Amino acid sequence: MKSLHDLHRPLGATGLQVSPLGLGTVKLGRDQGVKYPQGFSIPDDFTARQLLGLARELGINLIDTAPAYGRSEERLGPLLRGQRDDWVIVSKVGEEFELGESRFDFSPAHARRSLERSLRHLETDRIDLLLVHSNGDDLAILRDSGVYETLAEFKREGKIRAFGLSGKTVEGGLLALEHGDCAMVTYNLAARGERPVLDYAAAHGKGLLVKKALASGHACLGTGIDPVRASFELIFAHPGVTSAIVGTIDPLHLAHNVAVAAETLRSPG
Ligand SMILES: NC(=O)c1ccc[n+]([C@@H]2O[C@H](COP(=O)([O-])OP(=O)(O)OC[C@H]3O[C@@H](n4cnc5c(N)ncnc54)[C@H](OP(=O)(O)O)[C@@H]3O)[C@@H](O)[C@H]2O)c1
Repeated sequence: MKSLHDLHRPLGATGLQVSPLGLGTVKLGRDQGVKYPQGFSIPDDFTARQLLGLARELGINLIDTAPAYGRSEERLGPLLRGQRDDWVIVSKVGEEFELGESRFDFSPAHARRSLERSLRHLETDRIDLLLVHSNGDDLAILRDSGVYETLAEFKREGKIRAFGLSGKTVEGGLLALEHGDCAMVTYNLAARGERPVLDYAAAHGKGLLVKKALASGHACLGTGIDPVRASFELIFAHPGVTSAIVGTIDPLHLAHNVAVAAETLRSPG
């Protein structure tokens, strides 16, 4: 079975070592207000535990969650019990999802409450990477809200290992990398506009996570050459990419994605 165990790489200068594929967990916690091409049912605990076990077996050690992903954090705490040191956990602050609607709060006080709740839900004393969950106003959030300085404080307090921005703009991604450890950007076959952030990450040795690597599944609707392979060839060809976070609740998709990522990284181009 192809695995990613020997392909772990540094997340910028954070000291964290992560697999080139991470597991996105929106679908473990939330089925409202999502933009996937097909409907789905949130997996039960047995199925979710099997999926996480398979991910670990295949060499994935990076997992991405957020308070805005419904019950994702709350479920991951018990599901990952006893395995804390096997995972690099990414979570976020700033977005809340309640009664089917997103609401944003980038105040330092909210960030602190949110972090304490994430630690409680995830049953841990540290989050490895905490990202600002942007609503798109990246520059205003970073410059005016005080949230980024608060994340830097959390890092000094030892509550998080690293921080950054999950943003939507090039300017935001660049500023986030200048003053932080990592940016999470959209980069896929249909959306390459944030590429300058990847270039900056490569030039300055920063962490860079790709979200929506498969365009939230829309890349997989076409026929012809394997869209996963085409997507990963694009993404992993860029030296700035640390890891692509792919959301799946299908074990066959997970195994296929790992196999294709391993092949792409072992024989690039
Ligand atoms: N603002 C933010 O911070 C933000 C925004 C978006 C996403 N994210 C993070 O990034 C993660 C990934 O983003 P995403 O879920 O929007 O998009 P994605 O990873 O591009 O796509 C996920 C979709 O692709 C499908 N898929 C995965 N592998 C497949 C395969 N081999 N063949 C066919 N379909 C496949 C999945 O369905 P199956 O379950 O059926 O495999 C799922 O519906 C999220 O879970 C989240 O952790 C963060």
